[in-house]
Amino acid sequence: MIDQATIDRIMDAAEITEVVSEYVTLKKRGVNLLGLCPFHNEKTPSFTVSPAKGIFKCFGCGKGGNAVNFVMEHESLSYPEALKWLAAKYHIEIQEDEETDEQKLLKDERESMMIVSAFAQKYFTQYLWNEDEGRAIGLSYFRERGIRDDIIKKFDLGYCPDGKDLFTRQAQKQGYKIEFLEKTGLSIKRDDWVRDRFAGRVMFPIHSISGRVIAFGGRVLKADKNTAKYLNSPESDIYHKSRVLYGIFQAKREITIKDKCYLVEGYTDVLSMHQSGIENVVASSGTSLTPDQIRLIKRFTPNVTILYDGDAAGIKASIRGIDLVLEEGLNVKVLLLPNGEDPDSFARSLSSGQLHQYVQEHETDFIRFKTQLLMKDTENDPVERARLINDIVRSISVVPDSVTRTVYIQECSRLMDVQEEVLFSEVRKLQSRQSGEVRKPGFAERPRIGATPVQQAKPEINKCEVEEREIIRILLKYFHSEIFEVEGEQPGETESVSVGRFVLEEIENDGLQSDNKLISRMFDLFSQNLGNESFKPIQFFINHSDQQISKLAVDMLAEKYTESKRWKKGGAFVESEEDILDLIVPKIVQEYKMRKVKNMLHELGQLIKQASHSNEPEKVMEFQNQYINLKKVEKNLSEQLGNRTIT
Ligand code: CTP
Ligand code: MN
Repeated sequence: MIDQATIDRIMDAAEITEVVSEYVTLKKRGVNLLGLCPFHNEKTPSFTVSPAKGIFKCFGCGKGGNAVNFVMEHESLSYPEALKWLAAKYHIEIQEDEETDEQKLLKDERESMMIVSAFAQKYFTQYLWNEDEGRAIGLSYFRERGIRDDIIKKFDLGYCPDGKDLFTRQAQKQGYKIEFLEKTGLSIKRDDWVRDRFAGRVMFPIHSISGRVIAFGGRVLKADKNTAKYLNSPESDIYHKSRVLYGIFQAKREITIKDKCYLVEGYTDVLSMHQSGIENVVASSGTSLTPDQIRLIKRFTPNVTILYDGDAAGIKASIRGIDLVLEEGLNVKVLLLPNGEDPDSFARSLSSGQLHQYVQEHETDFIRFKTQLLMKDTENDPVERARLINDIVRSISVVPDSVTRTVYIQECSRLMDVQEEVLFSEVRKLQSRQSGEVRKPGFAERPRIGATPVQQAKPEINKCEVEEREIIRILLKYFHSEIFEVEGEQPGETESVSVGRFVLEEIENDGLQSDNKLISRMFDLFSQNLGNESFKPIQFFINHSDQQISKLAVDMLAEKYTESKRWKKGGAFVESEEDILDLIVPKIVQEYKMRKVKNMLHELGQLIKQASHSNEPEKVMEFQNQYINLKKVEKNLSEQLGNRTIT
């Protein structure tokens, strides 16, 4: 852990213009700087840097953030890695939080395991290239498979000599402890013997994101039914199979540039795709895809294309993968290969140009994929058709973003010839189910259309988002600005009220809360800093160590159009919102309240309907009373809003 004081010093030193202009030529444009975005291809510049706010934002591809985010994005680094990168650049010594003895031990142990792994990789690689056995068996195997030397080198492939313990003995001779050889699984030790786990296998080192070797896959060369084709390193303190993707280190840059990641199953698939010039590819390596692996991809791109074998197992794995990827909020496409081919064999059967073309032409979005896959069996069978629709709806319902969901619904509606409203209502039903229970995927237990019981009305994600974002933006920019004078405690004394105090008290007095966890955390953080004069909200949030918060703050500050909203005062347009905060801040708060009230009215309306459906007159009465009271509040608010001459 890097301590907060060090983070602050790095942030102070890392001037956004300076960091960015190492990579991008920037021209002055008003108070900002403008250049060509390094994260996507563009001819006219839409990449903006605001030195005052300390942020960058591309209005073309949407990427934005502070200096650390820029480095993360550009160098494909994690947050702590980017901080260290900047610290090195500005010669800031990193102070890590004091570690407990236990942490230190674990860290030392991990470090030792990585050092042993690095040694092993070098040993296997040099054995492959320089020793007779390595060349005759290992290298010739790779070459016979058609893998080029540059690819063998790029992936640090190797060979572990056949025999009992040649590798282990060599390692020990060079001073590596058996403890770590055993913990990494490179050596297998029993009371009275030690042997090499990977003897006689060709070696595929598995790298961490930052390129350190953390594990190995070893393939047998003889076709022997009694030995597993691949042996992998066991789980260890440095290798968690479910959190690692094979090839991520070699692919991350290209994934960022292409803004897409191909997902394949095996080691050799990754190699062959690279060899054909498709370098944004990673493998789940035999395990079924996990949420952690998807999140790893998400650090580099939101776009995933699953490229599995065209056989039944491949299709099944693709289907399972689709929902997982959707659930993490990524966009997913599927590319099925001709039956009998895997990406490795397929890539080798085509020229690089042909492969690129095939990939481009055969990528389908998941709705099309499922439709095509299942349409054949369902054409004239209404029950099967309903089942297919439900299957697709199920996938759509796990997509976190409502706009994306809508797009998918529209497509499904078109392809399956079902009304959008029907699909929307099915998706909503499934969502309210999912929020109440742990979702168990699986075909058999999927509910069918019509068989779903009526659910309690649930609010659509966050319907007040627009208003809440506007409030946060105002708080970020004008937290300390004074807007009103009120009477103080002593007669004759006045006290001024800041934007922050006014807004937060209004919200708190009405007991309003955001449905969005991030926004509500931001409200809390603002509240905690009421009265703190040295609190600098923009800096505080943009440099917040929670990346989601910092990203949200950047988005809000960078929103292009919010500020260009013209405010009218006394009939004339006023250029600067800062001059009329006393008018607009109360209005924004009231608009927010109004939105909340309208949402609540809507929900109550639903509840009343339901209660009368299920014959519960007392409930109906209760809801109706609430409804009437809320209507009064609404009227009140609308009068207040109407009385203001702001448009
Ligand atoms: N795998 C594994 N253990 C096995 C079999 C497979 O860990 N016994 C993993 C490997 O990561 C492998 C992936 O699952 O790369 C896909 O398996 P498969 O398609 O059988 O292997 P290929 O990658 O096609 O390997 P090859 O072409 O060398 O047969
Ligand atoms: Mn294969």
